[in-house]
Amino acid sequence: MRLRIQPASRLSGAISVPGDKSISHRTLLLAALADGISNLQGWLPAADCEATLRCVRALGVQVERPARDHLVVHGSGLKGLQPASEPLDCGGSGTTMRLLMGILAGFPFPSMLVGNPQLSRRPMERVAQPLRRMGAEVFTTEGHAPVRVRGGSLRGIQYELPVASAQVKSAILLAGLYADRPTTVIEPVPSRDHTERLLGAMGATVQREGNSITIEPAEQLRSLSLTIPGDPSSAAFLVAAALLIPGAQVQIPGVLLNPTRLGWVEAWQAMGAPIQVISEAEVGGEPVGLLTTAAAARLQAIEIAGAIVPRMIDEFPIFAVVATQAEGVTQVRDAAELRVKESDRIAALAMELRRMGAQIEEHPDGFTVYGPTPLRGAVVHSHGDHRLAMALAIAGLIAQGETIVEDAACIADSFPGFVEAMQALGAEIEPVS
Ligand code: S3P
Repeated sequence: MRLRIQPASRLSGAISVPGDKSISHRTLLLAALADGISNLQGWLPAADCEATLRCVRALGVQVERPARDHLVVHGSGLKGLQPASEPLDCGGSGTTMRLLMGILAGFPFPSMLVGNPQLSRRPMERVAQPLRRMGAEVFTTEGHAPVRVRGGSLRGIQYELPVASAQVKSAILLAGLYADRPTTVIEPVPSRDHTERLLGAMGATVQREGNSITIEPAEQLRSLSLTIPGDPSSAAFLVAAALLIPGAQVQIPGVLLNPTRLGWVEAWQAMGAPIQVISEAEVGGEPVGLLTTAAAARLQAIEIAGAIVPRMIDEFPIFAVVATQAEGVTQVRDAAELRVKESDRIAALAMELRRMGAQIEEHPDGFTVYGPTPLRGAVVHSHGDHRLAMALAIAGLIAQGETIVEDAACIADSFPGFVEAMQALGAEIEPVS
C-alpha cells in the first residue's frame, strides 16, 4: 500500500489514539501468567500485538476476544504455560520475542521463537546473555532469531545493562519471577518502566533504587482489569502535525503520560512548542490524561543526548521532521540504538528526508538537522518501518506538492487507524494501490 499526501492548510479537532503498544504486550503476557481472568479493554489491535496474542494462545492460554480491542484472558498461573506444538511466530515484533524469551526461561520445556526477516536482523544476544547467566539454555542464530530457549530452575543475578533497553530489562525481570533469589537489573539511564509498574500492580515485589530495579521471585500474580491508555508514541505524530501547520490545534484525550515516555514532549516544549500535558487519572499504576497543542509560532533548534534519549527512543523519526522546521542546528547524539530498530532509523531517515529537501547529516550515534528548510513533495520509502512511514506522511503535509509514501501498510504495526485519524483532523491523506 502507498499513501498519497497533499499539503495541509488546516488541521484541527479532538481525537483519541489506540491503546499503548508496550502496555498492550505486557498486560497480555502478564495476564497469561496470572491466576484468574483478566479483562483488557482498549487493547491495541496492531500487527505487533497480534503476534503476542498468537504466541500466548500457542502456549496454551485461552483468550476470548469480545471485540477487536477487548481481550478476556484466562490466566494459566505462573507455572501453567504449555509447550507450543510449532515455533512461536513473533512476526516483526521485538517486544514479543524479547519478553517471551524472559518468560520462557522459567519453563523446563524447549521453545523456538521465530520472526520475519526484519526482526531476524535485530540483536538477540543482549537478552540471551543474561538469561544464560541465570541458568537458562538459550541459543541464538549468530546472535539473531530463530532463538531456542529451554529454561527451568533459574538463579537470581545482578545484571548491569550495557545499553538502556526496556525490552532487555523486562526480559530479565520476567525471568526473575522464576529465580531462586532476588534479581537486580541496573540500567545506565531509566527506560520505560511499564513492566515494573504492572508487576507491582499484580502483587509482585519490585523495587527501584536509583537506576537499579530488584524483583523478588513470585508464587503467583493477581489478574488485572483495565482500559489501556492511548499510546503517546502514536499521539506524537498528531502533535507534530499540529505544531507544523499554521493555525492548527489538536486535543488528544486518554493518553498514557508516563514520564519515561514523554521525552519528546519536553524536547518540543524546549524548542518552543505550546504543548500542554494535563494528567487526569491513574490506570494500572500509570498516569493518564490529555495532550493538547496548537501550532508553534517559532521552533528553535535543540541538542539531544544522554538520559532523555531512551525517553523518546521511538519518536526520533518524527522528531527529525519537526527539526527540519526549527531555526538552527539540531543535534541528536547517544542514540546508536536507532540503528537496530525496525529499520536503521538513522540511515533511513537521512536518506528519505533528503529526498524531500531536508539538510540532515548522519552520525554513528545520531544525526544533525540544519533548519529551517522548506520541504518538497517526493516519492519516499518507509523501509518497512511503521514510524518512518508515519513521520514521512507528516512531512508530506508541510511539503510543497504531492508526497507518496511507499510501502506504508506497516503503519498497522503500531497505529491502525492512522490515516483515518489524520483525515478526521482535516488532512488529505489517502491510500492508493
Ligand atoms: C519497547 C522498548 C523500546 C522501544 C520499543 C518498545 C518496549 O525498545 O523502542 O518500540 O515495549 O519495551 P528497546 O528496549 O530495544 O529500547
